[in-house]
Formats: sequence, C-alpha cells, structure tokens
Amino acid sequence: MAVREIRKYGDPVLRAKANPIADVDEEIRALATDMLDTLAKAEGVGLAGPQVGEERRIIVVHPPPPADDEEREEPRVYLNPEIVEKRGPQETEEEGCLSIPGIYETVRRPHAVRVRARSLEGEDLEFDAEGMLARIFLHEIDHLDGVLFIDKIGPMRRALLKRRLKEMAEE
Ligand code: NI
Repeated sequence: MAVREIRKYGDPVLRAKANPIADVDEEIRALATDMLDTLAKAEGVGLAGPQVGEERRIIVVHPPPPADDEEREEPRVYLNPEIVEKRGPQETEEEGCLSIPGIYETVRRPHAVRVRARSLEGEDLEFDAEGMLARIFLHEIDHLDGVLFIDKIGPMRRALLKRRLKEMAEE
C-alpha cells in the first residue's frame, strides 16, 4: 500500500495511450491498491493509471454521495473500461482534474453512458451510469487515451488558460 505521486500537466505519460490489461495478477492488484490510497489522500472522485505514471487501462472511481444525507459508496476499480454507448442530452458542468490543479472549466458531456469493464475479481461488467457518475467515467476513460478535460473546452477559454498551462508544464 502506497500513496503515489500524481503526475501533473506537462508530464508526457498523461498524453500516452494506455495499454490493455490482460491478466489480473499481483502487480495489478498492488497498483489498484496504490491508486485507491492515492485517490483517498487526494480526496478525489476518480483517478486513471497514467496519472500515477502507469500506462495501463485501469481507473478508480469514488463518486460523492447522491445527496447530503446519503452514504457514500465504496470506491471501485475498473480494468479496461470502455464507453459502449452515450445517451443525451448533452450537459455542461464544471470539471477539474488532480493532474491539472487549480483549474476548473465547464465541459459538455452526454447525460448517460453504458460502460463495459472488467472487475479486479476478473468478472466482465456492463452497466449504465448517468449524471455525475457518467461524467466521472467519461473523464477517467479519456485519460486512458491521453485526453484531458481541457482539450474539450472552447477555444476562447483555452486561449485564456494558455499561459497558466504553459507555466504548469514547465514546473
Ligand atoms: Ni483527471
């Protein structure tokens, strides 16, 4: 168990296309545990392999409770996750990213998705997610293809952020 360093904008690993995971072995289980620890420490809602320097198709997801008086679910690990269907309408919500600290921008994403993935126990999963949870899956699965949320904002907003992003990349 270990909290890993979260790679920041400018690190080339965040732009790599991550590799599928063939077998759930000790190494993958250890990586999953590290990612859960890292996400908990950062108090985030999702984390993808490349963000801890691993070009592997693994994400951890820990959505906030649906309402203030409801309990938060346990975080979950997904291997080789993919979006198999997107359903509208498009919704615009603010997003941030542990790899791009301090920057929050509105991003348009579909309201609902169907996700296919493998569990850490090796089961094949397929399920629907909507709202905030759908957004987390879309954001984290983008990371596995080297895509960041700032790639999805309008050109005006991106122009305004250009200098801050350049400074972050040079740190
Ligand atoms: Ni992110």
